[in-house]
Amino acid sequence: MDAVETILGRLTLEQKASLTSGGDFWHTQAVPDAGVPAVMVTDGPHGLRKQSDAGDAMGLGGSDPATCFPPAVTLGSTWDVGLARRVGEAIGAEALAAHVAVVLGPGVNIKRSPLCGRNFEYFSEDPFLSGRMGAAWVSGVQSRGVGTSLKHYAANNQESDRLRVSADVDERTLREVYLPAFEHVVRQEQPTTVMCAYNKLNGTHASEHHWLLTEVLRQEWGFAGMVVSDWGAVNDRVAALAAGLDLEMPPSGTDDQVVDAVRYGDLSEEVLDEAVRRVLTLVARGQSLPEEPPAVDLDAHHALAREVAAAGAVLLKNEGGILPLDADGTGALAVIGELARTPRYQGAGSSQVVPTRLDAALDAIRAVAGDERVHFAPGYTLDGSADPALTDEAVETAREAGTVLLFLGLPASAESEGFDRPDIALPAGQLALLRAVRAVTERVVVVLANGGLVSVSGWEDQAAAVLEGWLGGQAGGSATADLLFGRANPSGRLTETVPLRLEDTPSWLFFPGGEQHVRYGEGIYVGYRYHHTLGAPVAHPFGFGLSYTTFALTDLSVRATGPNAAEVSVTVTNTGPVAGSEVVQVYVHDRAASVDRPEHELKGFDKVHLEPGASGTVAIPLEQEAFRFWSPGRGRWVVEAGEVEVRVGTSSADIDLVEVLDLEGDGLLPELDATSTLDEWFAHPVGGPVLRQALAEGGGRDLGEVDAHERAILGAMPLGKLSAFGLGVPRAIVDALVVEVRAERDVSRGSGRP
Ligand code: BGC
Repeated sequence: MDAVETILGRLTLEQKASLTSGGDFWHTQAVPDAGVPAVMVTDGPHGLRKQSDAGDAMGLGGSDPATCFPPAVTLGSTWDVGLARRVGEAIGAEALAAHVAVVLGPGVNIKRSPLCGRNFEYFSEDPFLSGRMGAAWVSGVQSRGVGTSLKHYAANNQESDRLRVSADVDERTLREVYLPAFEHVVRQEQPTTVMCAYNKLNGTHASEHHWLLTEVLRQEWGFAGMVVSDWGAVNDRVAALAAGLDLEMPPSGTDDQVVDAVRYGDLSEEVLDEAVRRVLTLVARGQSLPEEPPAVDLDAHHALAREVAAAGAVLLKNEGGILPLDADGTGALAVIGELARTPRYQGAGSSQVVPTRLDAALDAIRAVAGDERVHFAPGYTLDGSADPALTDEAVETAREAGTVLLFLGLPASAESEGFDRPDIALPAGQLALLRAVRAVTERVVVVLANGGLVSVSGWEDQAAAVLEGWLGGQAGGSATADLLFGRANPSGRLTETVPLRLEDTPSWLFFPGGEQHVRYGEGIYVGYRYHHTLGAPVAHPFGFGLSYTTFALTDLSVRATGPNAAEVSVTVTNTGPVAGSEVVQVYVHDRAASVDRPEHELKGFDKVHLEPGASGTVAIPLEQEAFRFWSPGRGRWVVEAGEVEVRVGTSSADIDLVEVLDLEGDGLLPELDATSTLDEWFAHPVGGPVLRQALAEGGGRDLGEVDAHERAILGAMPLGKLSAFGLGVPRAIVDALVVEVRAERDVSRGSGRP
C-alpha cells in the first residue's frame, strides 16, 4: 500500500466518506481504485472470535476455533500483569495466524454494580487494577504487531438499555473512577484503536461526544490511534465525525450523509481527512503483518489458559485446611454438580469463543484421583428445574464419601452481554442441594463457577471450603483439579468486594436507572471505596484471597523520590509449608484533604512467588498520580501538601504496615476571589498575609476582636460579603486584594496561569 498521504491525495470525496464506515461486519472498506485493501477486525477479548461466514455481534453465529482463555474476571483476579501480557501475546499470535489486524479488546469498564451482565468481561471495581491489567494485555497483543481496541469508552457500566441510556456522571467521578483505566492504557501503550461505548454520557451519545473523543482522549492523553464505534453505536454519521469518531462499524449505508455535509459546509473536509488518515494508517498497519505468520502452538496456549485459570481462582474459605486434598489418599471423593461435568467457562455475547478443546473438572479430578475413588452425581440440572431424584442420588453419593466436592454456579442463561442480573444469588435449587448434602457430611468443598460475583451470605457456613473459580476458560476444569489437589496453590485475589447483601452495594439506589437515565449517585464511592469509608462490613473485602501457605510482610520503607513521589519497599516471607504467591497491595490514605476522599485507594501492587521459608523484597513506585484528586472547581488534578498514609497489606481490609509520607503538594494554589471565604483567604499562603496586612492597615473592624463563636460563623462567609456586616475590608479593597494575590502568585511561580 502506498503512503497514507499519497492515497489521501487521490481519493474522491465519496471514497473518503466510504472509508469512515466499514466494508462489512468485520472489515474496513476497501477502495481498490485507490489501492486501499480491507483489513479484518474481530472480537476479543479472551480469545479470537473470527467469523469466516456471516457476522453477528452477539456470538449467536459460530466462529473458527481458538484458544478460549479465562475472561477478564478471572485474568483480573490473578493480579499478575506478567500473565496478562503473556495472554495478550498468545491471542496476538492467534490473530496473526488468522490474518486479523485488530482484536477488539480489552474491556476496562468498572464493575459499578455486581448486577452488570457483562462484568465477566471486565477486570475490576478498581480503576488502578483495571488499567494495569488492560495495559499489560494490550502490550502483549501489540507486541505481535496486531492491533487492539480499548473498550467501551466510556461509562458503559450496565447492559440495561445500553444503546440509549445516559450515564449521568459528575466530572470528578468520571476522572477518578471511570476514566483512569482508559487513561493509563492510552498513555502507557497507545492502543491502536479505542472503541466508543453505546451509551450516552451526560445526555450525549459517546459516539458524538467531542469532549470524550477529542478533548480528553486526544488532546489531554495524547491518543494517536483511531476511534471506532461499538457495533451499531453511531446514530448520526456527521455528528460522530465532528466529535472525533473515525470509523463506524458495521456500515450503515449512510456515506451520502457525510458527502452532503462536506458539500454543504456542515462538516469541514479537514475533519473528514483526519478520520480517513487514521483509517488508512490502521489499514497500512494491518497490511504490514506477515503473509505467512508463524504457526501457533495450541498446546502451549491451552497450558497457558490452565495457568491463568489456576492463578485467578480465589480461595475464600478453607476451614481446618480441608484443602488441598491428598492425591494419593484413599477416601472416596463425591463430585457433585452438573457444572463439574458440563463446565461453564466463558460468558455469553460478542466475546464468545469456540474453544480448541474443553477440560471438564470431573475428568481432571478422575485423572488425578483415579476412577474408583471418584463418584459423580449431577445433583441438579442447568435449567434450574427441580428434580428430587437428582437430590436424593447426590445425598447418597455424599453420604458414602470422605469428602464432597460440590460444584455450584450460575447457568449460562443467568448472565450475558445484553442484560443485567436481577440479583446475586446462586440458584435456589443448588443452595437446597448444598443444605441436603451438608446434612450428611461436614466435609463439603464448594467450587464456584460464575462471571459476575455471587452472594455467599446464608450458605458459606455450610461449606468447609469455598473456591471461587470464576469462569475458567477452556482449561478451567484441569486448573480446578490442580488447585484441589495442591498442584497449584491458590493465589487469586478478589477484584471486587463481595457484599453481605446486594442492598449494601453503593450503586444499589441508582442502578440501573429509568427513563433512559442512570445517575451515578454514589459518586466516587464505588466498591471498597464506599464500604471502607463507611466502615461497613462486607462478606469478603476487595483484594482478599487465601493460600495453602502463609506470608508475613515486614520492613516497610517509603522513600521519597520526588516532592510528590515515593518508592515503597517491603519484604515478603513465605512462612508456611509450600511454595505460593502473595499479592502485596499498597493503598493511600489522605490524612487531611480539603475535599472528601475515600478512606483509601489502591495505588500499587505486585505479585511475588516464594518457596517455603524464602523472602523477597518488592519495590512499588508511587508517582504523583497516586495522591491526586480531581477538583471540578479548578478544572484540574490537585495534589495537596500534607501527610498521607501509605498502607501496605494483603487486602483492602488487611493492612499490615503503615508509613506516613509528607507531600510537598503541586504548589498550584487555589484561586481566590471575593466569593472565597474568610477561612480560605487566611489559609492561603499568598492571600493570608495580603489580607492580614490590609486588615492591619485599618481596612475594617479588627477580626481579632470577635469571639470564637462569631469567628466560626464569619470564617465560612465570602470575604466580599463581610463589609456589608461592618467587618473585614470594603469591597473595593477586596477587589484590589484579588488582583494583588494573582500577581504575587504568578511571580512566585514564575509562570502564567495553570
Ligand atoms: C460489543 C463489543 C463488540 C462488538 C463486536 C458489541 O455488541 O459491545 O464489545 O466488540 O459488538 O462484536
